[in-house]
Amino acid sequence: MPEAPSNVPPQTPRGASPRTLPRARVGFLGFGSMARAIARGLARAGVPGGDMRACARDWARLSAGTAELGAVACRDAREVAQGSDVVFVAVKPDVATRLCASVADALAGRVVVSVAWGVTLDDYLAVLPDGAACVTTIPNLAVGVCEGAWLVDERDTLSTEQRALVDGLLGATGSVTRLPARLMDAGGTIASCAPAWAAMFVEALADAGVKHGLPRAQANLLAERMVCGTGRMLEQTGQSPAALKDAVCSPGGATIRGVAQLERGGMRAAVIDAVDAVLG
Ligand SMILES: NC(=O)c1ccc[n+]([C@@H]2O[C@H](COP(=O)([O-])OP(=O)(O)OC[C@H]3O[C@@H](n4cnc5c(N)ncnc54)[C@H](OP(=O)(O)O)[C@@H]3O)[C@@H](O)[C@H]2O)c1
Repeated sequence: MPEAPSNVPPQTPRGASPRTLPRARVGFLGFGSMARAIARGLARAGVPGGDMRACARDWARLSAGTAELGAVACRDAREVAQGSDVVFVAVKPDVATRLCASVADALAGRVVVSVAWGVTLDDYLAVLPDGAACVTTIPNLAVGVCEGAWLVDERDTLSTEQRALVDGLLGATGSVTRLPARLMDAGGTIASCAPAWAAMFVEALADAGVKHGLPRAQANLLAERMVCGTGRMLEQTGQSPAALKDAVCSPGGATIRGVAQLERGGMRAAVIDAVDAVLG
């Protein structure tokens, strides 16, 4: 068998943790879009449904969401905290610390993982019991298909073992990137808001395909595969986006005419402006 060349790029996503799944009982305070995506990803990665529990306000919606995964629907946040080793805080940011404060005693001894964007570690420490184990993160919805991107504040109050446990759970559903608190918003905008913009690009591209005669299903599939494959290729080869663009554009060819049109349309500026609009 030929020897692998020494410059073979790593096959795990850049920034990713090794995907070894620790055993832990996982709870969710709030079971909306984000919590369900995390739970689906964990289930896909091998966490048994029965090891997951959640609460929300709307019982019917909660029951339907947990039933899909064989997870336990709980009547309230206390029941979630009491039955979990790791508790994801997945309510809207304005509710997060109030809810944690209301069950602070039950959260003692649990690992609290916040996904509530903008709520800081200090916000949690102000309401959690002394010595609480807490870390703040921003995931994106692709964690639901184990292709997510997790941003993790590099400042936390976890022990080495608790950090390994959290990394194992998060890493099972996506890459894990630690950032200083001051860069979390910028990182979150790129990784967590931009899926909406990427979906708009896919939709627009597919529309163009339909305009030129492709059936909708094939147009969607081609656009989706193009985005997945391009991202994966950049990640696995380490090639810069500029180099990949140059590699597709042959001199005098068709692709560079499309590039010129996108530049006339202000694509790059529009993307940068979108990030500015989020960050204010
Ligand atoms: N969506 C994303 O792409 C994304 C990305 C990064 C971070 N996040 C963060 O994830 C968090 C959740 O966002 P989301 O998009 O999942 O919102 P969402 O779909 O509106 O879900 C919020 C959940 O919180 C529940 N809830 C509200 N008040 C509660 C209370 N007092 N006790 C228990 N549960 C309560 C809601 O229950 P009911 O449905 O019964 O009202 C719902 O299940 C936010 O903090 C957000 O910053 C989201």
